[in-house]
Amino acid sequence: MQALDRQEMVTRAIRLAKRIANFVRPKPRSIALSVEQVLASSAGRELVERFIEFYYGSGTAPSMSYRGIEILKNPCDIWMAVELFRTVRPTVVVETGTHHGGSAVYYGDALKMLGIPSAVITI
Ligand SMILES: C[S@@+](CC[C@H](N)C(=O)[O-])C[C@H]1O[C@@H](n2cnc3c(N)ncnc32)[C@H](O)[C@@H]1O
Repeated sequence: MQALDRQEMVTRAIRLAKRIANFVRPKPRSIALSVEQVLASSAGRELVERFIEFYYGSGTAPSMSYRGIEILKNPCDIWMAVELFRTVRPTVVVETGTHHGGSAVYYGDALKMLGIPSAVITI
C-alpha cells in the first residue's frame, strides 16, 4: 500500500468532514425534487442532461446487471420506478426496449415485493 503524502491526507480529511457535516446540519423543510420542479428550471434541466451524458457516456451502463442480467437503467431511475409502482399500483407495465431483460425482471420483482398483482410486458 502506498503511503499518502501530507497534502493528500489533509484533502481527504476535509472531504470526510464535509460529508459528516452534511449529515448533521439541519435539513430544509422541503427540497424541490419532484420531476416537475426540477425540470421547471433551466438549471435543473441542464443538470439532468449533464447527468445522463455523464452516466451513459462513462461506460458504466453496460457493466451493470440485476440478478446477473444486464440492465441499462441507471440506479436513480429504477429507484424512482419502485416509487412510481407504489403510488400508481399498475395492473400492467409495458416496457418498450427489452435489451437483455434486466429491467423487466427488476420491475417484476419490485411489483411482487410491493404486493401488487401486475403483468410486465417488455417489447
Ligand atoms: C435505454 S435501453 C434500455 C434497455 C432495458 N430496458 C434496460 O433497462 O436494460 C433502450 C432499449 O430500447 C431498444 N430500442 C430503442 N428503440 C427501439 C425500437 N424502435 N425498436 C426496438 N427496440 C428499440 C434499444 O435497442 C435498447 O435495448
